[in-house]
Amino acid sequence: MKSRKGIILAGGAGTRLWPSTQVTSKQLLPVYDKPMIYYPVSTLMLAGIREILVITTPEDSDRFRALLGDGSRLGMTFTYTTQARPEGLAQALLLAEDFLDGAPSVLILGDNLFFGNGLSEQLQDVSTRASGATIFAYHVRDPERYGVVELGEDGRALSIEEKPAEPRSSLAIVGLYFYDDSAVARAKRLRPSPRGELEITDLNRSYLSDGSLAVEILGRGMAWLDTGTHTALLAASNFVAAVEDRQGLKIGALEETALRMGYIDEAALARIAKEMTGNTYGQYLLGLLEGSWTGRPSTKASSKPNAPA
Ligand code: G1P
Repeated sequence: MKSRKGIILAGGAGTRLWPSTQVTSKQLLPVYDKPMIYYPVSTLMLAGIREILVITTPEDSDRFRALLGDGSRLGMTFTYTTQARPEGLAQALLLAEDFLDGAPSVLILGDNLFFGNGLSEQLQDVSTRASGATIFAYHVRDPERYGVVELGEDGRALSIEEKPAEPRSSLAIVGLYFYDDSAVARAKRLRPSPRGELEITDLNRSYLSDGSLAVEILGRGMAWLDTGTHTALLAASNFVAAVEDRQGLKIGALEETALRMGYIDEAALARIAKEMTGNTYGQYLLGLLEGSWTGRPSTKASSKPNAPA
């Protein structure tokens, strides 16, 4: 199997968040202390992905490039393409055809945020599956806002529906999809839905209908947050703030993820951190080098054992 490649879909007009998104993409807005797109990038990195295609609006392409670069400083490769009009999530596979070049893929929506113990291992495990597709289901209060999957006794999908008025389960399908090398060909066979979009749910249904769709549950210890409304965006920021401030560890800090995944070494992290010492983010990265990324007390903390973190 070729190495799996990642796709981040960060297009879309973001009209539900106007006027905040009138002159910038939603995925560039902050979630607490970093741009929203950092979170899906770090999720893909935790899944073991090294090559990512970032799909943006034409208007904001340069801003995403300025923010993330070519990925080399993170031991990654980022490439970019644009989606002229938001014509559906499944269009991402068509736009990614050349990039994928026959490789299996993982598509993540640029506004989805995942956090939880064991997530990295779960994603890396799914990533080894050579054939079929894997989607993830998460129990939510309001499934009618999402794609919804109904599971049989054996844990296999019985049905998937996009934003059903009467959901058959409380299991929302999250914006993270693992596909084998047949996804592009399947996406080419899709026809636009009544709302004029190539629906990701129809792509997933194509795997369901030939018995090659697996469903993984993201358990209740896992956080899946979306940022589709102002309230949801604020809730996501508050969530990240609460966890980060309590632990003194950041969620979605790409340089830290690169270090933990072994994509860069401590010397590379030191070079990056030294460019940013004037802010708390850079100071956090520098702190990692003092031992705290391994869980060992940093030199600062060990000299004052009772000092608050
Ligand atoms: C999209 C998908 C939906 C999925 C959701 C996850 O909906 O169509 O199936 O549950 O992402 O965030 P959208 O957010 O584009 O309305």
